[in-house]
Amino acid sequence: MNDILVIGSLNMDFVVEVPKSPLPGETIIANKFSLVPGGKGANQAFALGRLGARVSMIGAVGNDEYGKKLIDNLKLAHVNTKKIFKMNDVNTGNAFINVDKSGENSIVVVSGANEKITKEFIDNNICYIKRAKIIVMQLEIPIEVVTYVAKIAKELGKIVVVDPAPARCDLPDELFSNVDIMKPNETELQTLSGIKLNNEEDILKGAKILLNKGVKNVIVTLGANGSMLVNANGYKKFDALKVDVVDTTAAGDSFTAGLVNSLVLGKSLEDAIKYGHIVSSIVVTRKGAQSSIPTKMEVSKYIKEVGLVNE
Ligand code: RIB
Repeated sequence: MNDILVIGSLNMDFVVEVPKSPLPGETIIANKFSLVPGGKGANQAFALGRLGARVSMIGAVGNDEYGKKLIDNLKLAHVNTKKIFKMNDVNTGNAFINVDKSGENSIVVVSGANEKITKEFIDNNICYIKRAKIIVMQLEIPIEVVTYVAKIAKELGKIVVVDPAPARCDLPDELFSNVDIMKPNETELQTLSGIKLNNEEDILKGAKILLNKGVKNVIVTLGANGSMLVNANGYKKFDALKVDVVDTTAAGDSFTAGLVNSLVLGKSLEDAIKYGHIVSSIVVTRKGAQSSIPTKMEVSKYIKEVGLVNE
């Protein structure tokens, strides 16, 4: 039995290292180009596998070379890929990523096969939801599918974790009410809550809007400023580790994976958040999405080296 089911996207990332992001109408020369396995769903599944979790993924790729590479990479992390469908007449999803010299990125996704996932896929593979303890989703597949899965999963008593990226302002209320943990970053929270976030108080206000819609726990990630957990008990802040940032791609995905991995091991939500920060702090010191994700052993070694105690 697999403890965790990730339902989400797989993309081949076209990564361009640039001295700075181009302005509208500007042409710039890149320093480097690389192809890296990515996609928010696949990154989370890959990271969970590398951290030692028993994880399956439901998703879709095209019947092409990139789709095959993405599935092969997940297999290297011991992810159960039996329910990643190879679809004819559609390409594997792609993401076009600029990474500037401060490590910040901007991403454009061409969904391809990711948008072909249907409720029928889910109905036909409902046993995967039944067998899992935690269901993890993001928003790079159709929203009606995410909403449908959250409802079924809640009815079956599962823990539902949603990383609301890329964020949109038209999420159905029904989705919020079936989510146990939602993990927006600051920009995503601004879109989801509809309010401008200028300070900590605003972030709290934004998170409370999601709580009022029925989310049980909101974890707002704040980059170098750590994160904030907001729920019915109040709020708590967590520090990020200080590291030299090379590339922030998959920082959020690896945070989610670290968090979920700890939860499935029975850790408290607070300890799970701390572990999420540790995993993502390693990821941002390396280039690329799945190429940057550490193994469980690498994380343990890092914890010892920097003298952390909450593994
Ligand atoms: O979160 C990072 C991911 O976003 C990239 O791997 C890219 O594929 C996009 O989905």
